[in-house]
Amino acid sequence: MIGVTNMKKTNEILQQSSFSLEDITTLLCSQGEELILLFRKANEIRKQYLGNKVYLRGLIELSNICEKDCLYCGIRKSNIHVHRYNLSEKEVLDAARFAYENRFGSVVLQSGEITSQVFVRRIESLLLQIKSMTNDKLGITLSLGEQEPEVYRRWFEAGAHRYLLRIETTNEKLFRKIHPNNPLYDFKHRLDCLYSLRETGYQTGTGVMIGLPFQTVEDLAADLLFFRDFDIDMVGMGPYLEHSGTPLYENRDQLLPLEQRFNLSLKMVAVLRILMKDINIAATTALQTIDPLGREKAINVGANVVMPNITPIQYRKDYLLYEGKPCTNEEPAQCTNCLGFRINAIENEIGYDSWGDSRHFFARRENRNRENLTGTAESDS
Ligand code: 5AD
Ligand code: FES
Repeated sequence: MIGVTNMKKTNEILQQSSFSLEDITTLLCSQGEELILLFRKANEIRKQYLGNKVYLRGLIELSNICEKDCLYCGIRKSNIHVHRYNLSEKEVLDAARFAYENRFGSVVLQSGEITSQVFVRRIESLLLQIKSMTNDKLGITLSLGEQEPEVYRRWFEAGAHRYLLRIETTNEKLFRKIHPNNPLYDFKHRLDCLYSLRETGYQTGTGVMIGLPFQTVEDLAADLLFFRDFDIDMVGMGPYLEHSGTPLYENRDQLLPLEQRFNLSLKMVAVLRILMKDINIAATTALQTIDPLGREKAINVGANVVMPNITPIQYRKDYLLYEGKPCTNEEPAQCTNCLGFRINAIENEIGYDSWGDSRHFFARRENRNRENLTGTAESDS
């Protein structure tokens, strides 16, 4: 009987067009038949608003050198066991060419956080070269951490059009617990960076880790409301996976079992798709780490973006944000083949040669233009 009452509740919530924190918390706690309803609804919405296309971004992990010391991250600067690398210009350009020739449509340049002028110039130059090498055809997303607004602007002008910066958690107290206690790790500053990215003109992406120690389901529900209220264009989120070379490993006894972290991550994707129908949502590698079919499962409940790793193989084992990361032994070509096969196997189609931009971004811009026009008309009259 309890199941029936709960099912009605989920069913009712799914009929609504707006959702409270409590509603979202209930949805995240769905189980059994309720969960099937939730997943089905999310999948329907994705198909209705975005069709069955899944877009690819070739992930190039430029460097694992990092100025930061996040307590959860395997490549934090204090982890002396990490062999540090920096891809050469040729290696980056070759990887970008691989993505272009294999019709990926776009790439993500990701690295540990580096703020030196040399780095800023290096990225600028890489952006210009990738753009010219591909006749402006390859889209470029950056995931290079917190930078000055001026740096965001320079990289935008050099050709990047999307930027990912995960807020990691929107509970400020929890944010402080998972970062060192010093002004370099300031929640408000990270938020300011997101505003600055949007102001600069990027399609702006963020995300959180799911199943962190001390994190509650209400925290996760609040994360989803934050994405909605910020009106974000793209989200990448996945399970937190403990790494033995990090301080947060000490709290591993407080973690949910892996399977529950995985299920909670799928629910987060599904509820987000219901809240934000036309944004891009990534099926993340961390999901695949727990379940070999993790990314496919995320696509079936609302995700529409996959980021195959195209970093040259010899560096992959050194970019371990968490342990057990998959695909560290696969050549990019092998990865691509297996991905195409798997995505077709779940009745979706890869959006080849397309940037796969966030529809939400354009809708948001159009709305703003309309508001501006209305504003002008009113002040004119
Ligand atoms: N488990 C899961 N995700 C992690 N990240 C970093 N460390 C971990 C971990 N231990 C994620 C963070 C970061 C992104 C690049 O990788 O969310 O923003
Ligand atoms: Fe720098 Fe993880 S702490 S990338």
